Amino acid sequence: MSNHAPVERSVILGTGSALPARRVSNAELSETVDTSDEWITERTGIKFRHIAGPDETTSTLAIDAARAALDAAGLAGSDIDLIVLATATPDNTFPATATKVQAAIGMTGGIAFDVAAVCSGFLYALSVADSMLRTGMGKRALVIGAETFTRILDWEDRGTCVLFGDGAGAVVLGLETAAESDAAPRGILATQLHADGRHYDLLYVDGGPSTTGTVGKVRMKGREVFRHAVVNLAEVMEQVMKPLGLTSADIDWVVPHQANARILDATARKLGLPPQKVVITVDQHANTSAASVPLALDTAVRDGRIKRGDLLVLEAMGGGLTWGAAVVRY
Ligand code: UT7
Repeated sequence: MSNHAPVERSVILGTGSALPARRVSNAELSETVDTSDEWITERTGIKFRHIAGPDETTSTLAIDAARAALDAAGLAGSDIDLIVLATATPDNTFPATATKVQAAIGMTGGIAFDVAAVCSGFLYALSVADSMLRTGMGKRALVIGAETFTRILDWEDRGTCVLFGDGAGAVVLGLETAAESDAAPRGILATQLHADGRHYDLLYVDGGPSTTGTVGKVRMKGREVFRHAVVNLAEVMEQVMKPLGLTSADIDWVVPHQANARILDATARKLGLPPQKVVITVDQHANTSAASVPLALDTAVRDGRIKRGDLLVLEAMGGGLTWGAAVVRY
């Protein structure tokens, strides 16, 4: 009978992350920006962010995170068939930053490309890589979120420049076969993605190769993004859990996009999730866009909060608007 048929799932074999060397406090920022530690802490929960120096780029951070994830998985670059890298701040307009990572880790064949879904980028990349593995396009994938978002900030706009930081996070996925009767199968159990382009101008960059020919700066209607975030994130988390017969009570850890501690609190409250089940790193890293979910995941794996067998919900929302969630047994 089909309930004993083997099921292939993408399992997280290892995680890694990387941060620029320079760590900047709210107090240091307030020396050059008209802001205060009190305002930033109260409105966002952010205390520090890392800012990339001239020798640090999206690809250098991505390569460091990828190497750490490969080490954790006990694999080499040559074991990887596919790289999907999420970023809104590629090294160059083209080629894809993923191909720089590919060359650096010694992977000479296979597939490498970038996806652009800003802060939801890692959820999009994870879902794409999972689908590609399960449809036979490879056995092992590196999924990376990497950003140097501080390069596209308007340092005159205190409403945005205090919110973001740079970094990268990566996971190695490997296809594993489990019996469908397995009560607690490992791996990606479900993903849900959404986009609503009617809200393009709530969070965007006012430049690009096809419009201004410049790189541009981040523009955001913060309050409106906030309002959409709480509603959409609570909704997508319910959507991704429900078909699996799961409720918040079954979840060990939520690994959310780290935009604002108030969004994390409000979303957890809406779902009846105790705050102790939510991984929070926004205080240390600020909003690192596509890097934020894998960076938070790697942080919580390495400090021992997330253990093998734990049931996780990853979620994110960002420019587009785009949003998504995944249920993963680590
Ligand atoms: O990753 C993608 C998703 N992005 C997000 O999730 C961001 C969502 N939005 C937010 O997190 C919040 O809307 C912000 C943190 C961006 C802003 O918080 P807010 O409570 O919505 O503040 P506000 O923009 O309405 O501004 C309130 C006040 C204003 O002053 P007045 O007009 O009330 O006198 C601002 O000028 O705070 C002022 N303000 C600041 N003051 C000190 C804005 N930025 C700053 C600042 N320092 N950095």
